[in-house]
Amino acid sequence: MNFPRIHPDTIEEVKEKIDIYEVVSDYVVLKKRGQNHVGLCPFHQEKTPSFTVNQSKQMYYCFGCGEGGNGIKFLMEIGQQSFSQVVLDLAKRYQVPLKTLEPEKRQEIQKELSLREQLYEIVALTSNFYEHALQESLGENALSYLIEKRKFKPETIQKFNLGYAPSGWETLYRYLVEQKRYPIALVEEAGLIKPRKKGNGYYDTFRDRLMIPIKDIQGRVIAFGGRSLTDDEPKYLNSPETPLFNKGKTLFALDQAKSSIRSFDKVIVVEGYFDAIALHEAGITNTVASLGTAFSESQLKQLLRYSNSKKVIFNFDADKAGIKATERAITEIESLIYSGQVNLKILNIPDGKDADEFIKSHHNGSEKYQELIEKAPLWLNWQIQQLLIDKNLKQADNFEQVAQGMVKMLNKLSDSNQRSYYISYCAEILAQGDARLLTLYIKNLQTQLSKPLTKLSTKNKQKTFIKPETLNVNNLLKEAETILLKIYIHYPQHRQEIFNKLEEKSLIFSLSDHRIIWHKLLEIEENILNIHDANNQQFISQIEANMADLSEVSSKVKELLNFREIEQYEDSNRLNLIIDAALISLEKVNLEKYCNYCEQKYKKISSQEDPVNYQYYLNEYLSSKQKILQLQPLRSFSQLDIYS
Ligand code: UTP
Ligand code: MN
Repeated sequence: MNFPRIHPDTIEEVKEKIDIYEVVSDYVVLKKRGQNHVGLCPFHQEKTPSFTVNQSKQMYYCFGCGEGGNGIKFLMEIGQQSFSQVVLDLAKRYQVPLKTLEPEKRQEIQKELSLREQLYEIVALTSNFYEHALQESLGENALSYLIEKRKFKPETIQKFNLGYAPSGWETLYRYLVEQKRYPIALVEEAGLIKPRKKGNGYYDTFRDRLMIPIKDIQGRVIAFGGRSLTDDEPKYLNSPETPLFNKGKTLFALDQAKSSIRSFDKVIVVEGYFDAIALHEAGITNTVASLGTAFSESQLKQLLRYSNSKKVIFNFDADKAGIKATERAITEIESLIYSGQVNLKILNIPDGKDADEFIKSHHNGSEKYQELIEKAPLWLNWQIQQLLIDKNLKQADNFEQVAQGMVKMLNKLSDSNQRSYYISYCAEILAQGDARLLTLYIKNLQTQLSKPLTKLSTKNKQKTFIKPETLNVNNLLKEAETILLKIYIHYPQHRQEIFNKLEEKSLIFSLSDHRIIWHKLLEIEENILNIHDANNQQFISQIEANMADLSEVSSKVKELLNFREIEQYEDSNRLNLIIDAALISLEKVNLEKYCNYCEQKYKKISSQEDPVNYQYYLNEYLSSKQKILQLQPLRSFSQLDIYS
């Protein structure tokens, strides 16, 4: 909607009244730390809090992604709303009177505002209407269904404002339109009445149904789910999408659950309204329900705002439809789970019960349910279980199917620790207890995984890793080591830095000539008397004198002492760049050696006889492999224009 410009007075007053802490904590779990409050940034995915809120400055800032600003900016970003929209909402929230720059347009805003307002009002009134009907004689059936058949307590019925839509065709219509005088168009826009297909007039959307109000995060009713009390189809009829209700972005019972999600630091997602209601009644109040549509990434992101450790448990039905829904939900949120940004577990209740049935069928249902939650497998373990259902690994075709399925899943894992863990996990399943096969399958799985062990790496890097062009690499390495030695000799001011960096990463020169020279250099340096040798003369002449008798390296030393090549590069920034690039080359080669060594090792060790060492070398192998991939590719020093 196109808002007229709001008067600066109103903006100022809103700014004065708004409290950043209050505004942000609707969306982020904040903890006091010193002067600030900190929490997980809602604007990017992170595992440790770098989002800070400063109440005295009324500002927020994220050290992770750089987002920052005041409370209005926060609401604009998080709700994707315009400045005017946010200011108008806040003006309402803090009861600031509205002034606009164009007084003639004031009516227009009031109208727009009041459209939503009136929709809220109509829906709230309808909810009351249904609630009352449930307690009247026409609601008798529905009430006894809830209490006798579904065993709900009166408090629960009240807490969730359950109601009853009477069976006439125009009961609600008459109430809202004829009695309360709401415009027909608005009542229709709220999804509560529909135009008759034949002839004139309207009829009620919900008739003879048990009514479950759906509320937004703030607890305002925005829509309804209506359950049939007979065998009438559909079992549940839901409000259509309206200006207030977006199915894919709403979660049932989130308003009641959000504070418990914070305190339990995890959230349970069930499929049915009644599952959520039953769990709340049983004290498991950190539960929400999806609304019969596929669980979406937007819904997940809402939930993640309330749990610091990002624990989410899907408890969908254990029947075929429920399994499908679970798999669909996993696919929907794949990018977040495969990268480890959500800790997802899957609970399928044994015997195919849903949460409501399970709770009600045990006399200590609540504890029993908590136990199931504790034991719920991680999503990937669950998926692997699904892969194995009805499969006989002794049968070649089944085995192949399972193995392929595993490779497909493992391929999507971008976290290297997770990946190496699940490679072993899958190999163990495939090996079926045969220790000799285990190693083989680990290797098999590894070679079948097409992507390198990091999501950062590009195709290029993968190529360097899998098929290192040995000759080329050696040349680059020789170049890198030579340049380091030259800088060390000719630029005293960089000596300490090179020494420190080599030490810090325990790097050694890989070519033996270079190693010999390096040790000699350190020796000579120790023996030098005049450390304030401005021209570096003493060092150079000592090198000449001492290395003359090292015939095997003499030509190399000559090359190193040849100063001309790099003398023009006194620019220290440039030298730093060169040093770092050279060190990366060294590091890479060192790591590659270590990686190969660990690979040889773990392949020789029997995982059954010596599991500790086996696991150790396997992990070392995998983690060094990953480190290699994260390093920049080797660069030729001619590309750095050193000699140009
Ligand atoms: P279920 O049929 O599992 O619901 O559908 P439930 O809550 O267990 O129902 P009871 O226990 O038999 O009363 C799960 C959810 O799917 C949506 C609803 O949101 C329901 O809660 N649904 C189901 C519909 O929207 N329409 C339908 O016809 C059926
Ligand atoms: Mn049910």
